[in-house]
Amino acid sequence: MDSRVLRRKRRCQFAAHPKVMVKRARKDAGKMRIPLEASLAELQETAKNCKACDLWKNATQTVFGEGMPSAKIMLIGEQRGDQEDLQGKPFVGPAGKLLDSALVEAGIDRKTVYVTNAVKHFKWEPRGKRRIHKKPNAAEIAACRPWLDAEIAALQPKVIVCLGATAAQTLFGRDFRVTLHRGEFLKSTLAPFVMATVHPSSILRAPDEETRHEELKRFIADLKKISRAIS
Ligand code: URA
Repeated sequence: MDSRVLRRKRRCQFAAHPKVMVKRARKDAGKMRIPLEASLAELQETAKNCKACDLWKNATQTVFGEGMPSAKIMLIGEQRGDQEDLQGKPFVGPAGKLLDSALVEAGIDRKTVYVTNAVKHFKWEPRGKRRIHKKPNAAEIAACRPWLDAEIAALQPKVIVCLGATAAQTLFGRDFRVTLHRGEFLKSTLAPFVMATVHPSSILRAPDEETRHEELKRFIADLKKISRAIS
């Protein structure tokens, strides 16, 4: 195999061993006062006061993950949008609506899925009266990582799906490219099945109706693979 392909292949495999992950999570959790072996409900309560980075200052509230503690599938987005920030729930705005209908098409009931984000506060900048989404930076993503690790440890999902580059790079490193590995099951110690696909917002941003339709079809096909993996 071409050495560049091999290097890329190695890079996309999540490196941290569970023991390393637990050690790192414990260290970070200690600093951030994340209760060890906490339930999702306890984590959610503690996260309300998180000030690990400055994003809390302009956000309405911490928006933690949501779903049944017995959920087998964990979906990870980037960060909440305007609606999510106001309502205190993940994926309830336009991207969430698209996600819901794609899940239905793939035969997955959203009520059986745990949905969270790499970053738990809304980062935005004002444009007139509107709050425009701003991409979180590496420091903000790193500051939020212990919460994601704690959620994964508490839920122990069978499947993890990263929606978009921010979530995928949070788990697989900054060199990871969703465009190269989209829809593949990746070797990872985080869960038996781990996959990255596009973020639903990218489908909403498609330049024309035909592209949007094609992208939605591909997204549903990725979700169907997950549905098959857990059946
Ligand atoms: N986009 C995300 O990544 N997460 C949300 O919760 C909403 C929009």
